[in-house]
Amino acid sequence: MERKKFIKQCGFACISGTVMASLLESCAASKTIPGNIVQDYITIPFTAFDTKNTQKSAAKKYVVIQNDALQYPICVFRFSENDYSALWMQCTHQGTELQVFGDKLQCPAHGSEFDNRGNVSNGPAAKHLRTLPVTIDNNQIKISLAK
Ligand code: FES
Repeated sequence: MERKKFIKQCGFACISGTVMASLLESCAASKTIPGNIVQDYITIPFTAFDTKNTQKSAAKKYVVIQNDALQYPICVFRFSENDYSALWMQCTHQGTELQVFGDKLQCPAHGSEFDNRGNVSNGPAAKHLRTLPVTIDNNQIKISLAK
């Protein structure tokens, strides 16, 4: 094989592998679900955090609840089987919808960042995110929508 042809083929294989790996990683790391609204609560099943990997340590770190009845999505971070935080994904600076990146939320408008408990870690936002009370009930994660 010619040297030039070999280098070209290796380059394409390398780029394809990198793109596929990042696509697979992003699919495995997040999950958007509708949730089930009943009165002042929205519920999601424990299984929303399941991955194809059966080890408990392989549970998803977060899921995003998107429901037409909600003005903004809710990001639910999982810290352990009994410890979750539910964060209203509205930036406290000027109200832009936040995006999740790993264990933090970022605002695409002016760059504010919040940690996975809703605390401001980078301005210009000065107020923490609205956090919603979470209870665990009958294999369901129950999030209060009451103001
Ligand atoms: S609206 Fe989010 S940082 Fe300005």
